[in-house]
Order: sequence, then structure tokens, then C-alpha cells
Amino acid sequence: MSQNIHANLDVPAAQVVASGQTLYPAVERISAVAGIANNGGAESTSAADRDAILAEPGFGKYFTDHVVRATWNKDSGWTGGELISSKTSSGGFATQALHYGQSIFEGLKAYRHADGGIYTFRPEANALRFQRSAYRLALPPVPTDLFLGSIEALVREDQDWVSGDPDKSLYLRPFEYGSEDALGVRPAFDVTYVLLASPVGAYFPQGVKPVSVWISDDYVRAAPGGTGEAKCAGNYAASLIAQQEASANGCDQVVWIDATERKYIEEMGGMNLFFVYGEGDNARLVTPELTGTLLPGVTRDSILTLARDLGYTAEEGRITIAEWREGVASGAITETFACGTAAVVTPVGRVDSKNSGTWEISGGQPGEITMKIRSALVDIQTGTREDTHNWLHRIL
Ligand code: COI
Repeated sequence: MSQNIHANLDVPAAQVVASGQTLYPAVERISAVAGIANNGGAESTSAADRDAILAEPGFGKYFTDHVVRATWNKDSGWTGGELISSKTSSGGFATQALHYGQSIFEGLKAYRHADGGIYTFRPEANALRFQRSAYRLALPPVPTDLFLGSIEALVREDQDWVSGDPDKSLYLRPFEYGSEDALGVRPAFDVTYVLLASPVGAYFPQGVKPVSVWISDDYVRAAPGGTGEAKCAGNYAASLIAQQEASANGCDQVVWIDATERKYIEEMGGMNLFFVYGEGDNARLVTPELTGTLLPGVTRDSILTLARDLGYTAEEGRITIAEWREGVASGAITETFACGTAAVVTPVGRVDSKNSGTWEISGGQPGEITMKIRSALVDIQTGTREDTHNWLHRIL
């Protein structure tokens, strides 16, 4: 099956799952790489400067020499895309996305394997989620072949930026925004899609050490009917004040609870959460079910499958703050971890809050099952474990 623009983008991911369908179906990976013009010019970073960056990349601090850009106009549709210098400036002060936030993004990574090959992980899933986000923000969906083609063109051109160190990768950031210079409040008539790339190490500076989290009682990330399921810039802007509150209370990250009943756990910062019940082979993993207000994470989806591969029970459900606190106290909940593309799998070691108490999980240490899930995923991504689900897409 090949779907350049998915059907039923108006059906939210939560409804797809509720109706028993696959959230991210396997589709033929179609690529429009051949149509992407190379207008890139010379590289601007010397090999010595690049090596210094790759030795200590941090997260999202440096960018490769090129980007791929494609534009859309309401009358003429999408252009084929072009590879250009990443130093190209774009947009004026009236750019629609700056004023009204018509802006969405994705995140995925390219990994260099020991054989020298470069791979991405389930890029077609990101393409589909990007199209769903576009639908919600009244943007034109980027066709899957353009999305995959842009990734292939950019990674091939900037391949020297993909480190061979398995703890490092090239973070790919596709984004799309209303680029028309206009102040009328309506969907933009001119839209730009850009793919940029940033060499990265660990997302959290402390590596895989457990993070502490602050439950946000006063701020809401997403409400029913809102944009919580879309990966749109506004969700992240609205989250920053709660993240500041978490930091002011000595926590690394914020945990969001539902907008209506103010008791169900939804997400951590920009990442999904998993709760481990029990231990050893009998462990059961539970992740908050998609309700329309949660981000349908590709890593979340992969972990549901991987956990079952490893022999655990893995399910989607609803869990309250009180169940989390009491489950940890009684020993029923043994571990909690967060997952996402950027930070992969990150243990949660401590919870703090204004109204719901404070508790420690797994003695503040990374849990055994958390680390097993983490290695299963990372090993597939980096090529040291068999890719039985055909999740890897070879680029070079
Ligand atoms: C990801 O895990 O890719 C995220 O969405 C986090 C990102 C906003 C840095």
C-alpha cells in the first residue's frame, strides 16, 4: 500500500486506536528524492569545526550545512523541493506563523551503523503524524514522498554530520508553517516546509539518569477539542511557563494532567509516559491511552510492540495521580519512564507537586525493565539487534 497523502486525516489518532486500527500502518516507503534540486552550494563548516561539534554536540545547538525547503501555494500546490544552504534567511516580520502560530513540526533521527550505513527509524510514521498535525492546523499536508525524499536528500548531502558513536545521532527536524506575509486571520495562502538537521548527543545533560517531575496543577497542556494531539508549536509555547514552575520547584520536567477531571496523567513535558506494574517476566506496562489530548508518540507506539516482543503485557489505560502515588507506595508500580524521539527512554525517579505529595520511584534509580526496554529500542535503532518489524529505512 502506498499513501502519499493519507486518507481520513480528519479522524483523530485516538479514534483510530479506539476503532482497533493500527495507528502507524506499515506503508511502502515512497520517496521523491529524485525531484529535489540541489541548490546547496559549498559546505560552510570545515572538517575540523565539524569534528569538534560532533565530539560534544549537546542537543539542538548546532546545525548541518544544508536544509531542504519546499513551498506550497493555494493555487499551485507543492513545489518539488530544493536543497539549499542552512544559512538561507527566510521570512519577514509579517510571516503569518509568527503572529498566529500556524506551525507544526516533527522529530526523528538518523543513525550510523557499524557497517557505515545510515538509517532512519519509522519515517513513514512521522510522515503520517505530520499530515494529521497539518490537518488540525489547517495546513496542507506534506506528501509522504516529499517528506521521505527530503530526509534522503539532506542526510545524503550532510552525511559527514552523522557520527559513528552509537550514543550520538543526527536529529532531523521537519517543520511546516504559514509563510505568507499577511495579518488576516485565516489559513495562510503560502506555506513553507523545511527539513533541518542537528547533530545530537543525550537530550538530558545528565544522560540516562532518572529525572524528577513536577505535577502541573495550575496549567493545562491540552483540552478536549484542542490541539493536544497535534505536534504544533503552540503546544510547546504554552508549556514553557509550567516548565519554569517545575524548575523553580527543583524538578527537571513537568507532568501534565487532564483538563477536565484534573486527575488523569497525560504526558511528561513533550514525552509520553509508561508505568511498570510488577517485576520480572510478569511485569505489565501501562501507558496513558490516547484521548485526543495526548501526543501519539512514535516511540510510545514502538515500545508497546517491543514490550510485547519481550514477553511483557503492554496496554493503554487511564491512570490517576492518586493511583500512581499509592501504587508506588504499595509496591504495585515498580518503575515509571518517559519516552520520545529526542530522549528515547528516560527513567522518572522522583515526583513532586503542590497538591498531591512527593514520592520516589525505584529508589531514584533507573529500573531494570526501563533499561531493558531502552536497550531493545536503541539496539534496533543503532543496528545491533535484529529489526524484525522493518522499522529501519536505509538511506545510504
Ligand atoms: C521528541 O522527543 O522528539 C520531542 O518531541 C521533544 C522535542 C520537542 C525536543
